[in-house]
Amino acid sequence: MALAERYLRFARVEAKGHSRLYADWARHVAGSARALAFLGDLPPDRRQPNLFFAALRLVGGLPEAGAAFDDVLAREGVAIAAVMRARRTQTNEPGRCACLLPLLARLDGPLALIEVGASAGLCLLPDLYGYDWGPARLDPPGGARAPVFPCRVNDRAPLPGQHPEIVWRAGLDLSPPDLGDAGDVAWLEALVWPEQSERLARLRQAVAVARQAPPPVVAGDLTRDLAALIAPVDARLVVMHSAVLTYVSDPGARADFARLMRTRDLHWISNEAPGVFPDHAKGLTPRADKFLMALDGRPVAWTGPHGQSLDWL
Ligand SMILES: C[S@@+](CC[C@H](N)C(=O)[O-])C[C@H]1O[C@@H](n2cnc3c(N)ncnc32)[C@H](O)[C@@H]1O
Repeated sequence: MALAERYLRFARVEAKGHSRLYADWARHVAGSARALAFLGDLPPDRRQPNLFFAALRLVGGLPEAGAAFDDVLAREGVAIAAVMRARRTQTNEPGRCACLLPLLARLDGPLALIEVGASAGLCLLPDLYGYDWGPARLDPPGGARAPVFPCRVNDRAPLPGQHPEIVWRAGLDLSPPDLGDAGDVAWLEALVWPEQSERLARLRQAVAVARQAPPPVVAGDLTRDLAALIAPVDARLVVMHSAVLTYVSDPGARADFARLMRTRDLHWISNEAPGVFPDHAKGLTPRADKFLMALDGRPVAWTGPHGQSLDWL
């Protein structure tokens, strides 16, 4: 997809209704020769709206779209490009646990949880957070300081009365952010969209929980290094990922990963944009603004990309 069209789509589909400023920025970028030339000088995998906007915020604050945006780019372009080359879109959204938890709670436990593309590992702690699904609520086991994630659900969603038992957990990421490093945490915060102050507050709470109970995340590539991570534990093994396989652009590598998931004795939870594993979406009416959550290759729910909604099938 051409760059300008990609930014227009981001404004229309992803940012609409979630961030007025990012939608304005994206529309502006699509029509700004300066911004498009700036992006064109970066490697193709470094041109995404989320990466650009987080780097621009970190370096240059929150200018309005238009001349002010282009001024920041003219002044700070070198520093912004350096952040975009050094960092990845590693948005670690623990709110996605509000969608994962009802599925995890249906599996026979105790569970051993592996997350590939875990970022800092915040989604490896679903049993330590609270949830408010509207018709049901689960308080965080550790008390009031843990985040409570709100999530709109449809009436088919199976809402659990207790957290699943997770006895072992491990994460894998190309470059796991270090929650003890102020720069890494500032980057995770910059990846939360500007007007979403409640989401940012919950991220900070989740980071505090994770600092108390650090989820182990090792550096590695899910297309090569997963098998080595699968430890023999006396628990039901679950491998999960959300907003990750979209970054594995080689369809053959995705297919190999799916084959590995099907041939091992484990449960596989995939929570990705519906185009990532078209097999999972077969027969369903496509929903461009949702992720599709699947268990062992079968679709179970449409989910809000940041965990804000759960529509059980
Ligand atoms: C958008 S973040 C999602 C993080 C987390 N799954 C969540 O839902 O909050 C995508 C993560 O996948 C990681 N990633 C991308 N490709 C990967 C690969 N081939 N192997 C391991 N991690 C990968 C990135 O480094 C990044 O941290």
